Amino acid sequence: MLITFEGIDGSGKSTQIELLRDKLKKNNQKVSVFREPGGTLVSEKVRELLLDQNHVIDPVTEALLFSSARSQLISEVVMPKLERQEIVILDRFYDSTIAYQGYGRGSMPIEKLQELSKIASHGLVPDITFYLKIDIDQSEKRRSNFTRDRMENSGVEFYRRVIKGFDKLAIQESRFVTIDASRSVKEIEKNIWNLVADQLK
Ligand code: ADP
Ligand code: TYD
Repeated sequence: MLITFEGIDGSGKSTQIELLRDKLKKNNQKVSVFREPGGTLVSEKVRELLLDQNHVIDPVTEALLFSSARSQLISEVVMPKLERQEIVILDRFYDSTIAYQGYGRGSMPIEKLQELSKIASHGLVPDITFYLKIDIDQSEKRRSNFTRDRMENSGVEFYRRVIKGFDKLAIQESRFVTIDASRSVKEIEKNIWNLVADQLK
């Protein structure tokens, strides 16, 4: 089973992923977590290129780099695990590319990015996608102590477009479950677990 988490930076994805991983383990499930971009030696190197504040990256290059990191992660580790019937949780997947590089940056038409995503993900589609929805103010508050990477320096208008993109995907894609991420960690955890437990049945 492939479970993905989406949402803007600071929406609480990593926090909820850790909690879900622990719960699945307690339920004797084999589960692995990977972050995008990242998860393999090559993909982590591409991540460094992408997030370094000193790099000026053209929007098309950016879309291709995120996709290249993804292709390596999926083929090298995710596919083999899914073939063994294990559970894989991804901290972001191609929906982030549609939202950030598509709606956010306008790097190329959405249909083209969807084609690119299909290639980069080797045709893999998540079974369920949790979209942690939060507004920009709240995400800023939660991230106030963190240093910003290159993507996070893109400005408020950029983030508004990214949220619009995720909202559109949530309407278009039936695998999307929109979670009100302004609630407490515990409430969200319960909400997510109920839905995953249903899928496991
Ligand atoms: P993401 O992985 O989406 O960037 P994180 O899980 O790292 O988000 O959360 C960002 C910050 O917000 C962290 O300091 C985390 O402890 C805090 N946080 C996460 N979920 C909540 C929540 N529901 N309410 C308040 N703070 C939260
Ligand atoms: P990361 O620290 O993993 O995200 P978060 O702050 O949510 O924990 O940083 C990854 C950054 O890359 C984040 O700003 C979102 C961005 N991103 C894209 O723009 N496109 C993509 O396809 C992916 C996977 C991430």
